[in-house]
Amino acid sequence: MRLAVYPGSFDPITRGHLDVIERASGLFDRLVVAVLVNTRKSPVLDVADRAAVIRQAVDEELAAVAGAIEVITFDGLTVELARQKGATSIVRGLRAVSDFESEQQIAHLNRKLAPEIDTVFLMTGLEYAYLSSSLVREIAAFGGDVSALVPPAALPYLGVARPA
Ligand code: PNS
Repeated sequence: MRLAVYPGSFDPITRGHLDVIERASGLFDRLVVAVLVNTRKSPVLDVADRAAVIRQAVDEELAAVAGAIEVITFDGLTVELARQKGATSIVRGLRAVSDFESEQQIAHLNRKLAPEIDTVFLMTGLEYAYLSSSLVREIAAFGGDVSALVPPAALPYLGVARPA
């Protein structure tokens, strides 16, 4: 049983995150999507809402693999969660070179803390390489159309009605 943890703020989940979830679920038997409670980024969406949106998006958009995906909230160290879950890997998406520096630092530190757990990086799909949760929130706040950028489940949390 190969299990991975995919941690993040997911404030909210974007189509780029969903792409990483779908591809990671093809590499592992089970995937735990872990929503960080106390992120340094002062999240706009409540942690329970961030997790609920992911659950709904996975069920609606990735039905074929939804049974192998667990969505949880967590506080503390990612490596401790990974150990608790019996995970062999931590999954992270990389959009561009600019992500690499901080991700490399975190991966090295996590390896120092838990040498038995590897970080697996997936390049985010090219069509989503420009996406970030913070820019999605900004566009939505100014009334822009974010429907192509996030799964429909996220729209109500951005003040946008879901299409019927
Ligand atoms: O979506 P984000 O905000 O880029 O995710 C960052 C996250 C949650 C992966 C990172 O901040 C994290 O793992 N936080 C948990 C605390 C932790 O383990 N910190 C030590 C990293 S060396």
